[in-house]
Amino acid sequence: MRLAALLVIATTGVLTAVVPGSPGTAAGLPYQDPSLPVATRVGDLLTRMSLDDKVGQMTQTERGVTTPADVTSYRIGSILSGGGSAPASNTATGWADMYDAYQRGALAAPLQIPMMYGIDAVHGNNNVLGSTIFPHNIGLGATRDPALVQNIGRATAEEVTGAGQDWTFAPCVCVARNDRWGRTYESFGENPELVTAMTTVVTGLQGQRLDGPASVLATAKHYLGDGGTTGGTDQGNTAISEAELRAIHLPPFRAAVQRGVGSVMVSFSSFNGAKLHGNKYLITDVLKGELGFTGFVVSDWAGIDQLDGQRGFTQAEVATAVNAGLDMLMVPENWRTFVGYLRAAVQSGQIPMSRIDDANRRILTKKFELGLFERPYADRSYAATIGSTAHRTLARQAVRESQVLLKNAGGILPLAKSGGKIFVAGRSADDIGNQSGGWTLSWQGASGNTVPGTSILAGIRAAAGSGTTVTYAKDGSGIDSSYRAAIAVLGETPYAEGQGDRPGSMSLDATDLATLNRLRATGVPVIVVLVSGRPLDIAAQLGGWTALVAAWLPGSEGAGVADVLFGDYAPTGKLPMTWMQSASQQPINDDDGKTPLFPYGYGLTY
Ligand code: GLC
Repeated sequence: MRLAALLVIATTGVLTAVVPGSPGTAAGLPYQDPSLPVATRVGDLLTRMSLDDKVGQMTQTERGVTTPADVTSYRIGSILSGGGSAPASNTATGWADMYDAYQRGALAAPLQIPMMYGIDAVHGNNNVLGSTIFPHNIGLGATRDPALVQNIGRATAEEVTGAGQDWTFAPCVCVARNDRWGRTYESFGENPELVTAMTTVVTGLQGQRLDGPASVLATAKHYLGDGGTTGGTDQGNTAISEAELRAIHLPPFRAAVQRGVGSVMVSFSSFNGAKLHGNKYLITDVLKGELGFTGFVVSDWAGIDQLDGQRGFTQAEVATAVNAGLDMLMVPENWRTFVGYLRAAVQSGQIPMSRIDDANRRILTKKFELGLFERPYADRSYAATIGSTAHRTLARQAVRESQVLLKNAGGILPLAKSGGKIFVAGRSADDIGNQSGGWTLSWQGASGNTVPGTSILAGIRAAAGSGTTVTYAKDGSGIDSSYRAAIAVLGETPYAEGQGDRPGSMSLDATDLATLNRLRATGVPVIVVLVSGRPLDIAAQLGGWTALVAAWLPGSEGAGVADVLFGDYAPTGKLPMTWMQSASQQPINDDDGKTPLFPYGYGLTY
């Protein structure tokens, strides 16, 4: 039992004796007594917090520029890993050790308020090497299976817990309306009802209780209208009526709030020219008031820097964002400046203390509900779930259900498993990095065999019986007319956020077209498996293809694609996005009067 009497000079100048107990014991102060209601504990703790304590709780910094000693000195409330920001040892132990080091820093401060660690576990715990990489949301939307998605949330929560973290910046509940947007694949679909149905993932992540085994805090993001920008420009402007904003983009947030989502992340985008990060009406009046959201609102990555259109941020921007209703500010790098601005803004009266207290109350409530005051350190008992057989089996089932069969001339699919020769080609046939897409081990993801798993080619080889010869050449060279079928696995290489915006062509590139021409020249039937984060402009080529399967971004378990190609699973996937006839039709969505190549909800089976 570590009992130390600490004298804390509160900002009021009053000497306050703080005699904390060890974390999780009732021997300490009321806020450390788990038998008391959370509201009581929060109320007691708030009375003991200095302005510096409160400012610190509202500050989220990036691991790369933060030490455990910083957490102690500045009372930092949360640390994050940006995409790909991992400890030197990218293992469950390496992550958990890092988490615990930061937590010890937090508990070394007088009030011993635990910190929270946020990470983008958006399709599995994708920053952690060896984790199960689930299909990205666009594929999960194609499954039309909310129960499956809840189970994926549960599995993800276990793999997040096993690495020590307690908060994921997921799910993205954006409603992607223009497929040119680089984040289309992070959306469950273009239809608000479909995205709303998939908020089951929140329940999977958070469990029935936030302090339940392996429960992690979820984040509904990005509030509000990020998928509706003009031209599909990432971080652009959503120029629609409030009625349209409410009808199309708000329902999934309402559903997530009803499911008790613990945090909401604000969008970089603007609504009719006004940055969301400064929109008090939408954040405070609508989200917190009308929807009754009682969790906390977190900014996006340095989102406050964008408020005045100038580089960097100012005290005025800090005040605007906090007064608009942001409770925690993701200030990845120059957080010391932020701390000074926030403190000064309160001391100058730009931000009322009531707003600071409300933000702290929201943040602390989630920390108490997560059980962090009782169990502040990493729960390493879930480390074995990371990349487990059970999770990979679940992911493979999700891959199966996400495949959308768009063309099947002559019933060439399902392919017979034995006999003859099958040729496999394409840039994404033997490339787990391509089939996983962005937010995989790094922010942008990368081509190559970046993570453990099964490539689509390996799945094909395993599914085809010993009586079948499977030949692979990435560019299709070597094929001749002796093959009974050619499978071309191609499409997009990984990207994330604005780097994936496609304001121009949405067609296959020259490399893919050359591969397809080489295959088609032999007269062998060509089955195209499209690995992409969105519908592509393929109408001009479709006539030359015998079959077409939209595989989306299936993740580490590529065998699920072969399960469909060879009939171990008859395709059930349905388009989550309307499929354009040409890029000139973008945006094109269900019931907008335009004639698509394939309509929303389309999908064949055997
Ligand atoms: C990024 C994304 C957001 C992510 C955050 C932290 O810029 O917009 O989705 O959660 O930063 O990585």
